Amino acid sequence: MAIVERHKQELERLAAPQDRAPAVIEFRGVSKQYGPTDRGLESATFSVARGEFVFLVGSTGSGKSTLMKLLIKEIEPTAGTIRVAGRDLSEITRRKVPYYRRNIGIVFQDFKLLPDRTVHDNVAYALQVTGSSRKEIRAKVPDILRLTGLATKLHSFPDQLSGGEQQRVAVARAFVNHPPLLLADEPTGNLDPETSVGIMQLLYRINRTGTTVVVATHDATMVDRMRRRVLELEQGRIIRDEHNAGYAPRDMNTAEFGELLREPAPQPQRRMPADAFDDIYPADDSGPRR
Ligand SMILES: Nc1ncnc2c1ncn2[C@@H]1O[C@H](COP(=O)(O)OP(=O)(O)OP(=O)(O)O)[C@@H](O)[C@H]1O
Ligand SMILES: [Mg+2]
Repeated sequence: MAIVERHKQELERLAAPQDRAPAVIEFRGVSKQYGPTDRGLESATFSVARGEFVFLVGSTGSGKSTLMKLLIKEIEPTAGTIRVAGRDLSEITRRKVPYYRRNIGIVFQDFKLLPDRTVHDNVAYALQVTGSSRKEIRAKVPDILRLTGLATKLHSFPDQLSGGEQQRVAVARAFVNHPPLLLADEPTGNLDPETSVGIMQLLYRINRTGTTVVVATHDATMVDRMRRRVLELEQGRIIRDEHNAGYAPRDMNTAEFGELLREPAPQPQRRMPADAFDDIYPADDSGPRR
C-alpha cells in the first residue's frame, strides 16, 4: 500500500505543471526585531521566482532596507527562514558570506564608488576581488561599460562624473560578474527624474538578460510606468503583493466596477459570531450603539 501511495505521489509530482520557475528568494515568516521596540520586519512570507523584476515600496521606515540587508546577510533575522536559490541563509557561516555575496549585485542610493579609482578601475576592482584573471578583466570591463553607456568615461574619476553617471558605474560594477540576483536600494534616490529613467532602463535591461532584480524605491512615477510586481511594506509587514502593478494600490476601473455591480449581492450576514463584537454592533443593523 505504501509503495502504491509513494508511486502515486511521484506520478503527481511529475505531472505537476513545470511552469513554476524555481524561487530565487524565499522568505518564510521572517521577522527582524532590532530592539524591544524597533521592528524592522514582521512575519514576512513571499517568494521571488527566477527572472522576476520586483519593486519594494512603502513609506520611510517600513522595512525595505531591512529586507535587503537580510538578503545579503548583513543582518540576521530574529525569526523565520530565508532561502536564496534554495539555500538556507542561516547555514552560511560568517566566513562564507563573502562567497555567498559574489552571487548578488548590490546598488545603493549613494553609489559607494572608490573615489581614488577611475571608472574602469572601479569596475575592474569587482572582478579582481573575485579572482578574475587580467585577461578576463580586459574582456569584461569594456563590455559592461558599453552596456551601461560609459564607454567614453573610462578614465574619469567619480568626482568628474554626474550623479547619473556615477550610478551607472555602480550598476556596471554590480553587474560585471553577471550575478543571478541584483538588489538595488533606492538607486534613483539622489537623481533627477530624467536620469532616473535611464538607470531604471538599465536595471530593466539587466533583468532581460535573466537576472532577478529587486528594487526598493519611493519613485512612484517609475513604478507606475514600469508595471512590474510590487511588494508593499507597512511597519514591517507585507500589505500588498501585486503583479503588473502601480505604486499605489489599484483603483477599480469602470469595467471592473460594472462587473462588481452585476454580481449577485452577498447575503446579509445577520448572525454575528458569539464574541465581543455583539456588544458594539447589534444584529438589527442600527449601527454602533452610542
Ligand atoms: N540598526 C537599527 N537599529 C534599530 N532600528 C532600526 C535599525 N535599522 C532600521 N531600524 C528600524 O527598522 C525600521 C525599518 O527600517 P528600514 O531602514 O528597513 O526602512 P526603509 O523602508 O528602508 O526606510 P527608507 O525608505 O527611509 O529607507 C524602522 O523603524 C527603523 O527605525
Ligand atoms: Mg531604506
